[in-house]
Amino acid sequence: MANADLMDKLVSLCKRRGYVFQSSEIYGGTGSVWDYGALGVELKRNVKDLWWSSMVHQRDDVEGLDAAILMHPRTWEASGHVDGFVDPLVECNNCHRRFRADMSEVENGQCPSCGTRDAFGEPRTFNLMFKTFMGAVEDSTSTVFLRPETAQGTYVNFLNVQGTARQKVPFGIAQIGKAFRNEITPGNFIFRTREFEQAEMQFFVKPGSDDEWFDRWMETRMEWHRSLGIREEKLRFHEHGPDELAHYAKKAFDIEYEFPFGWKEFEGIHNRTDFDLSRHQEFSGKRLEYIDPGSNERFIPYVVETAMGVDRTLLVLLADAYREEEIDGDQRVVLALHPKVAPVKAAVFPLVKKDGMPEIAHKIQADLRSNAIPAFYDQSGAIGRRYRRQDEVGTPWCITVDGTSVEDGTVTVRDRDSLEQVRVSADQIVGWIRERL
Ligand code: GAP
Repeated sequence: MANADLMDKLVSLCKRRGYVFQSSEIYGGTGSVWDYGALGVELKRNVKDLWWSSMVHQRDDVEGLDAAILMHPRTWEASGHVDGFVDPLVECNNCHRRFRADMSEVENGQCPSCGTRDAFGEPRTFNLMFKTFMGAVEDSTSTVFLRPETAQGTYVNFLNVQGTARQKVPFGIAQIGKAFRNEITPGNFIFRTREFEQAEMQFFVKPGSDDEWFDRWMETRMEWHRSLGIREEKLRFHEHGPDELAHYAKKAFDIEYEFPFGWKEFEGIHNRTDFDLSRHQEFSGKRLEYIDPGSNERFIPYVVETAMGVDRTLLVLLADAYREEEIDGDQRVVLALHPKVAPVKAAVFPLVKKDGMPEIAHKIQADLRSNAIPAFYDQSGAIGRRYRRQDEVGTPWCITVDGTSVEDGTVTVRDRDSLEQVRVSADQIVGWIRERL
């Protein structure tokens, strides 16, 4: 399948089956903003829950935080975003559309929209932060920004969290939340959008131990992505060269996935040194030093940051899972999502709508649900079609109640990937699925 086709098919499946819709679609859509439907929101929650569990619940050296999106405007001066978070833009004097100055057509002098040659004005910098106003007065004194990264909420709370959670350096702070960037060239579906979610963790370490912690976090994060079932050969690290490094970073590695549109980053590991804490100390006038309780040594910790895009990770999972296959002369589309992330874990079908089968099927669905295992009931259409519908949304197991079930209490369980069918006692289904999650 051609790569462009794969993206089109994925976007279409996501819309048709309720994974992702264009925002405000009835008004013609909002530029590069997307809404998650019934299945999409479950997939997203599963990814965030697994991340939170591995970063916070399973460790004793990382604490959680949920900082506000709106922050004091000085935050963004200190962080460097007011001056540094900019793209150079040029405007076409013919069609008045604006483009990034580093686009190849623009560098060659031709407008990518109307085709006019040599009609660009001087490049002007454009800040990617969204601005709004706080309070009743709309002037420069009330300007606030929608955060372009969750990280700054963590830096300004560093001592609050450290003191209240009684943590000692080295320790980390994890956060999941929305971020906003007025991207000039968004695109590729949910890959680059203007509103998105980040799952970030800042790990505070003693200067000098930062390289060692950087290596550890690189390995830990790559291993986590593998644990979601993402194909090994589609994942790699990319080290930032001197031209790519962000203003705050001493060293940075991206975790990249081979998307249908090429190898691209979906998580970054950054050594931010003491840049952010030092700047906040300078701009706020408040000490942000850590005092080592053993040696009484004072220092500003270095930060190793792991910054994952939640929406981009969803695109990785969907693109990695999408397959078209032929089975016994029949075409099927399947989303081979790892059962851990699949939105619906099991679908329950009565073979026919009579002879006591729907009652047994409803009871199995209710048992699964009451054990917090999302399960779907479907009694409409031929059994083959019901299987196909579940394959397409990535449901790992289909449970069918048939004539034998009425007699001996067993049901068939069909595996989405191997297509194998086994008979399991209906009253053991919950345990059977639990074991495999
Ligand atoms: N605090 C560091 C930071 O924000 P980043 O590399 O700019 O680093 C981290 O962003 C991750 O956030 C990226 O790897 C990507 O997955 C996601 N991300 C960034 N901009 C995005 C956008 N416009 N749309 C979707 N995801 C985005």
